[in-house]
Amino acid sequence: MSDMQLTDKQTLRERARKNVEEGAVTEGYSANREEILRLLNESLATEWVCVLRYKRHYFMATGIKAHVAAQEFLEHATQEMEHADKLAERIVQLGGEPEFNPDLLSKNSHAQYVAGKNLKEMVYEDLVAERIAVDSYREIIQYIGDKDPTTRRIFEEILAQEEEHADDMADLLKGL
Ligand SMILES: [Fe+2]
Ligand SMILES: [Fe+2]
Repeated sequence: MSDMQLTDKQTLRERARKNVEEGAVTEGYSANREEILRLLNESLATEWVCVLRYKRHYFMATGIKAHVAAQEFLEHATQEMEHADKLAERIVQLGGEPEFNPDLLSKNSHAQYVAGKNLKEMVYEDLVAERIAVDSYREIIQYIGDKDPTTRRIFEEILAQEEEHADDMADLLKGL
């Protein structure tokens, strides 16, 4: 027998009826909500900076080897926007407000916006940004632990895709 204590049905039902206006955030939510919201908003900013950087790179990619790279840049831009949307949705579920103020995006972002002077520089900067995202998301996942499984799962899904992105950029860089 496990000695894990599950909350009894009666208590669960009573708790659910309290603070109904809090929506998805119940009394059993044990994470520091303010901190989780801050991390989600920093990640939202990171994703948007990545969308903008990949868009710039997509339109600016020129040269013989640019076509393959440009298609990768475009695909990544689309996926970064999907990540941003998942984060924004979770922020609202947790009772926060997603920060889309452009003046704040680059300040809050972990990754940087670097235009890059040529294709090789672009790919290199994208690889650096992906590596920053991978490290910061891994740390966030460790910080969340088992306190907020849904937010954790969102970050885990995004992390897996950032690792693929980093791999794609590393492959491209080898050919340049
Ligand atoms: Fe992303
Ligand atoms: Fe990425």
